[in-house]
Amino acid sequence: MKNLLNKKILFIICGGISAFKSLETIRIFKKNGAEIKTILTSSAKEFVTPLSVTSLSQGKVYSDLFNAENEAEMDHISLSRWADIIVIAPATANTISKLAQGTTDDLASTVVLASNKDIILAPAMNVRMWEHPTTKTNINKLKDFGYKLIGPEIGDMACGEYGEGKMSDPLTIAKEIDKYFLIKKSNKKFKALVTAGPTNEYIDPVRFITNKSSGKQGYELAKSLYRNGFDTTLISGPTNLEINKDINLIRVETANEMLIATQKNLPVDVAVFSAAVADFKMNKSYETKLKKKENLTLNLEKNIDILNYISNHNSMRPKLVIGFAAETDEIHKNAEDKLNKKNCDWIISNDVSNKDIGFNSDYNEVIIHYKNKDIKKEKLSYKKKSGISDEIVDRIIDQLN
Ligand code: PMT
Repeated sequence: MKNLLNKKILFIICGGISAFKSLETIRIFKKNGAEIKTILTSSAKEFVTPLSVTSLSQGKVYSDLFNAENEAEMDHISLSRWADIIVIAPATANTISKLAQGTTDDLASTVVLASNKDIILAPAMNVRMWEHPTTKTNINKLKDFGYKLIGPEIGDMACGEYGEGKMSDPLTIAKEIDKYFLIKKSNKKFKALVTAGPTNEYIDPVRFITNKSSGKQGYELAKSLYRNGFDTTLISGPTNLEINKDINLIRVETANEMLIATQKNLPVDVAVFSAAVADFKMNKSYETKLKKKENLTLNLEKNIDILNYISNHNSMRPKLVIGFAAETDEIHKNAEDKLNKKNCDWIISNDVSNKDIGFNSDYNEVIIHYKNKDIKKEKLSYKKKSGISDEIVDRIIDQLN
């Protein structure tokens, strides 16, 4: 983790059982050359002591907003200016709620509101609290403000329940922060394009051929690319989803419109084709609404293959072309065939016969099939589509660097 050297990290610890893990995170930061100042919220002090944090961080621990000694030495504004980054781990439901509302009733929330730096949250809470609509709304608000998230993970919780809400482990947090500084240092703003959702292919003015894609996987990919500093364009078929306004969202309806929008937004460094483009369209669609009859034969023809076209478009071909493969059987064979036939660098296959993953689910499990790498394939195990997307984007960043 070379990129942590001499970086100034303002580390905020909130009150939760995973606060004890923060000691290990601080130890990893220090071992890799970072400079640490820590803020403990009042409830954090119920879990870790200021003395243990100072010993590990070899830096000052702050906790009171109105403390004459601290204010004279470094007030809350200077503290936020001192940092290269602010990391909040664990970020509890209470702190997340305060940050989303702009409440400033303690040092941590005041420093964050006064900050002009990137803020990274590592949430930790019970699964019900994490899944509560209030927390979801607060998190979405913070993401829109540009806050970045590490985790939370799915697993056994300290309270004995199982689910999503577990704080990421210290090494994962440290690696993510290292990656953040790596991207910043390279100072190169990579460009990404993602296709998502279904397409509608019209039979007549009111009827169309489509499929079950919700767009969730593609939208999560676009969000993760954006969070990781990519200048991101999302070309979306019809969905009910919304996205951060800093992502260049282009809404289309048909495969043809999707192809035109994709071409217009090249060149990019990476293109991820997660859209479920209808494979067939009407040979000629009816201009007026079809009348009811006993039988109807539709004359369909093959649709344009956007991925195939872009991948073989030499002058504009992105450095990294990633396709998805929605399979129900012979997953490996079919995915490898698509990898070769469509001239992709990676194909990401998912088993859409499993109702818990794939189309319209919030979860997925995928295999990445690589073309020119030592490892031929890699499984990303069952988790939220947001988590799958983060893991894919980690690999994209490694590849582009
Ligand atoms: O949208 P969600 O509900 O979240 O579901 C996610 C998903 C299951 C749709 C997604 O994970 C996925 O698998 N997307 C690809 C779906 C698909 O059309 O797969 P395919 O095996 O038919 O196509 C292979 C690749 O070619 C895909 O990258 C596809 O975008 C692309 N393609 C296909 C046909 C076509 N005419 N043009 C294309 O670009």
